[in-house]
Amino acid sequence: MATEKSWQARISEATDKLAQSFVESISYDRRLYKHDIDASVSHAWMLCGVGLITKAELSAIVDGLHSIGDDIDAGNFVFDESLEDIHMVIEDALIKRIGEPGKKLHTGRSRNDQVATDFCIWIYDAACDLQKQVADLQNAFITMAVRSHGIVMPSYTHMQRAQPIDAAAEMLAWTVMFEGDRKRLLQRQLKERMGQLPLGSGAIAGTSLPLDAGNVLCDREEFMEVAQSSIERTATRDEALDLLWMMTMTSMHLSRWAEQWIIYSTTEFSFIKIADKYTTSSSMMPQKRNPDMLELIRGRCGNVYGDLFALLTILKGLPIGYNRDLQEDKRIVFRAYDTVSSCLTMAAAIVNSANFVKENIEPTLDRGFLDATSLAEYLVTKGIPFRTAHHIVGSLVAHCEKTGRHALKQVPVQEFNDAIAGHKLDVKLDDDVYNCLGAHNVVKRYQSAGAAGGKPLEEALAKWKERLGM
Ligand code: ARG
Repeated sequence: MATEKSWQARISEATDKLAQSFVESISYDRRLYKHDIDASVSHAWMLCGVGLITKAELSAIVDGLHSIGDDIDAGNFVFDESLEDIHMVIEDALIKRIGEPGKKLHTGRSRNDQVATDFCIWIYDAACDLQKQVADLQNAFITMAVRSHGIVMPSYTHMQRAQPIDAAAEMLAWTVMFEGDRKRLLQRQLKERMGQLPLGSGAIAGTSLPLDAGNVLCDREEFMEVAQSSIERTATRDEALDLLWMMTMTSMHLSRWAEQWIIYSTTEFSFIKIADKYTTSSSMMPQKRNPDMLELIRGRCGNVYGDLFALLTILKGLPIGYNRDLQEDKRIVFRAYDTVSSCLTMAAAIVNSANFVKENIEPTLDRGFLDATSLAEYLVTKGIPFRTAHHIVGSLVAHCEKTGRHALKQVPVQEFNDAIAGHKLDVKLDDDVYNCLGAHNVVKRYQSAGAAGGKPLEEALAKWKERLGM
């Protein structure tokens, strides 16, 4: 049986059944029940503070709201679709439970400022939760960096072999990338945007009642100031877009990482092994071991991009003031949150299960002339201008290829000196040159800030380990 809506007096007939289920949001905004109750308790305290309700009414309202929250927590609550959304459902239940005082809760308030308030509180909590999940994923990377430290592997630019790195450095690269996400989620922009309290803005124009938004402010950490414009505050969803954008960035980072590990898991690379429990096989090809979870992390990034564009597109056509289109905001942001949150959890589990396969990486290190840049830099330390050194090493690599050698360390010192001689330089190399050759030697020699080996890597690892209390 449908319950009568708070606004029914104006409308001559009951809402059409199809229209009812078309317009409802209770099926998904019930997720805001704690936030709605919380905001209502703050509003009731403020109403009491300005004398619009008595202390006895306040305590009836607060107790009633808490009893509703307890029943929802316990699964003993029926959400009536005919009441459209969480705001009407809770208000209706309150009036049924406590009678007359319940009818005073909506004083000076509209669902428009109510939903904006609830959603801001939810967004604030969501940003805090995501930030913790990102930190968990970073911790998985740091732990993997520690157990992979000392494994030397190639790095790639253009997917071509570039310079050798310590495997730990690549794990820290992801850690640093996700640190940007974590900081973004905590950043001032979101807090500042959320800083304006919508309560008191009413439906659009404010209220003639003597509400005291400042009083609510003292009570809530999510908000830092009262609304600057009641019209704007009830019309905007910019804080939802801020969160969506941040989630989009995180998804993109997750997708890049997933792509990298999908490549590393191929037979051609075989650089990384993830646990069997995070793979699937094929219904037809018995040998298959597929990284489906990684592929879904990569694929679901597309959904999150879509969610960002869905909300941007909904907002672009809206005149200022509340429009029902705005109700779609929650469906979109909840969906994106659930996607990103589950991808983060899945990613951390996969990283915790994974190991670099040293036996497969090691034999390949002598391919691709990973130490060519190191040799050029060695020549610089002998007084040769870098551009000339680059030229000399380039011709040495070509020389190796012509003479059937696959690594620079196979070149005799005499041939290094022959290559230098053509440039009329007063430089003569001896056996010391071999100390800058070979992937393992190269990795030890890095010195610049953030470098993928040597002392900078030791320092970075120590810093991140400290965060983990390792
Ligand atoms: N369920 C609505 C939403 O999520 C609440 C606001 C409804 N306001 C209104 N004037 N119909 O946006």
